[in-house]
Amino acid sequence: MKGWMGKFKGLFLLGSLALVLSACGQENLTALEPKGYGAEKALDLIILTTVVMLFVLVIVMLIYTAVLLRYRKKKGQENYIPKQVEGNKALETIWTVIPIILLIIIAVPTVTATFDLADETGASDHLNIQVTGNQYWWHFNYEGQEIQTSQDLYIPAGEKVYLNMKSSDVIHSFWVPSISGKMDVNPENENTMFIEAYEEGVYWGKCAELCGPSHSLMDFKVVVVSQEEFDQWVEDMKNVDPKAQPQDAVAQEGQALFQENNCMGCHAIGSSPAAVGPNLTNFGSRSKIAGILEPTKENLVRWIMDPEEIKPGNKMTGNYPDVSEEEADKIAEYLLQLEPSEITPEDAGK
Ligand code: CUA
Repeated sequence: MKGWMGKFKGLFLLGSLALVLSACGQENLTALEPKGYGAEKALDLIILTTVVMLFVLVIVMLIYTAVLLRYRKKKGQENYIPKQVEGNKALETIWTVIPIILLIIIAVPTVTATFDLADETGASDHLNIQVTGNQYWWHFNYEGQEIQTSQDLYIPAGEKVYLNMKSSDVIHSFWVPSISGKMDVNPENENTMFIEAYEEGVYWGKCAELCGPSHSLMDFKVVVVSQEEFDQWVEDMKNVDPKAQPQDAVAQEGQALFQENNCMGCHAIGSSPAAVGPNLTNFGSRSKIAGILEPTKENLVRWIMDPEEIKPGNKMTGNYPDVSEEEADKIAEYLLQLEPSEITPEDAGK
């Protein structure tokens, strides 16, 4: 390592770090391009604290360099001892007061933002959604609307939406970096937060608390649409008939298999309350399958045949009879036709 490698080790590490960090800039999954109220507040604080820290770094480095140059050992002055400043009142005061001022500069906006983001006074005038975190998926219950859905959270743009969050099992954390900060989702108590998205679009959400082997796969989406589109979606979702028969013959067979295999034991369609597994009401228009896979039939068949291969530790594995590929294909056909609303994630931001 002493050769050329040693010389370039720092450069190599810096390069790798840049490479790793470059993946953090994915569109609609970055706190650095805020598209919502909470994310905007957070970015302001990130910039402020970074500026303060850079200021401290520059001053300290300047003093450090000046001291090194001025007091380094010089020829003929080997025994020279600089003037001692121990107990110097002026110096002690300066290096106590400056950090206090810097901390106040950081603390005032931070505390103000914290109280602002925790303000729940307007909650009853706005849309309230119960969010339930589960290993490894998210359930959304629109309070007073008789709408239940999973994985894709539809909200109107430019409106405050209040989330009342609880977990059905272990601690999760609800995080949509482009829209707002994180909030822990606990099994014992309800945590609340509000989100407000400025622009229509589909925003990536992540679980931000280690919750088991598929923690990193516990993705969801926030689908932000215009108020008119949202109202239409609400109307469509309320009018769902869970027993409606699909037109297509293959999908009809799929529906029969879905019932025979007792899939409804875990997966509700329509507005019946939260069950063991994700609600499938608008499954055909979801942006992803299981939160992570592209919504193709092949992927859905793969998921139905062997969910463990895709999301280790999920609760579906082993809790239903074995299905053949042919059967899985029919069930997939049925599920992908569950599209009660014309409003889909593709419309968001178009
Ligand atoms: Cu849920 Cu990590």
